[in-house]
Amino acid sequence: MSIVDTEHFSIPLLDWYDRNKREMVWRDRMNPYYTWISEIMLQQTRIEAATGYFIRFTEELPDIQSLAQVPEERLMKLWEGLGYYNRARNLKRTAQILVEQYDGRLPADYEALMTLPGIGPYTAGAIASISYGIKAPAVDGNVLRVMMRYLQCGDDISKMPVRRRVEQMLLDVMPERPGDFNQAVMELGEVVCIPNGAPLCEKCPLMDSCQARAAGCQEEYPKKTEKKPRRMENKTLLIYELDGYIGIQRRPQSGLLAGLYEFPAVPEKLTLKGVRELLEKQGILNARVSSMGTAKHIFSHVEWHMKGFYVKLERAFERQKLPPSVIFVSRDELSQSYALPTAFRFYLKQIIEGKNEK
Ligand code: ADE
Repeated sequence: MSIVDTEHFSIPLLDWYDRNKREMVWRDRMNPYYTWISEIMLQQTRIEAATGYFIRFTEELPDIQSLAQVPEERLMKLWEGLGYYNRARNLKRTAQILVEQYDGRLPADYEALMTLPGIGPYTAGAIASISYGIKAPAVDGNVLRVMMRYLQCGDDISKMPVRRRVEQMLLDVMPERPGDFNQAVMELGEVVCIPNGAPLCEKCPLMDSCQARAAGCQEEYPKKTEKKPRRMENKTLLIYELDGYIGIQRRPQSGLLAGLYEFPAVPEKLTLKGVRELLEKQGILNARVSSMGTAKHIFSHVEWHMKGFYVKLERAFERQKLPPSVIFVSRDELSQSYALPTAFRFYLKQIIEGKNEK
């Protein structure tokens, strides 16, 4: 890797940021709690989508103390749709540690921040630099892309030593405004040096010193690493209704989507006839069954291929034939109190809107 210097990198970049930085609800408030929450949300979604989540989250949980005390179910509901629910659980765990050991504040110390659950080098660097003006790098995927192109470097960005070298390089040229500098590199990656398709080099403050641009090969960086193919899982969801109440159950406390709610399911694709047979085997003989269509959901390592069936129970006693884990809740409770992952949105929407009713 070659050298990044202040004159060609930091100065034009900060100047660009000052003229182009986007409005964000959590920006410029110097509130470490806001920085923390927003940075964790931004690891999962784009700024536009994170804004609504951030406003709802901080309205209900305005500070570390309230986060430390929030009931798990409420926390999951506030996080619903963002994915990676353990990140939300780590927020709460960290808030509890902050209340118990740090006087209810995020420490102004990069190393101390890194010891907290869910806070790695990126988040620690973002909080330290943005909220406390500490010179610490905050290297996310956007920053890695910018740097690999700038340096025309083909190293594998998933490797720790590569990340470490980029961190050190940025630290070496970090100006007096470390928070703005870090955000400037990220933002350049988000709006100019974009990931899919051609980067907008004509708009880039670094175009004269970018090596990939000079060589005309900016789209070839960063080099892609071979990914393992995702595992496919088939599922048939059985969406029970009894007297206006919908059957859901809690997922196990560990693994994918731990502790969230789901519609009961079997791990294979069934036909309408197959569903009827399954119900009969369970002793449910009087249900009305109809198809709700197919849906697919892609997680990082798994793909769910789903078929959904609406099963209207006609006899209250048939509820006893279902596993005791299945609880029946009203449509209002389903949308307001129970966190169902986005994977079920296609079916949830039909149920909430009553579209499945014939
Ligand atoms: N992406 C993630 N965090 C960001 C921030 N603070 N500024 C700009 N882009 C970001």
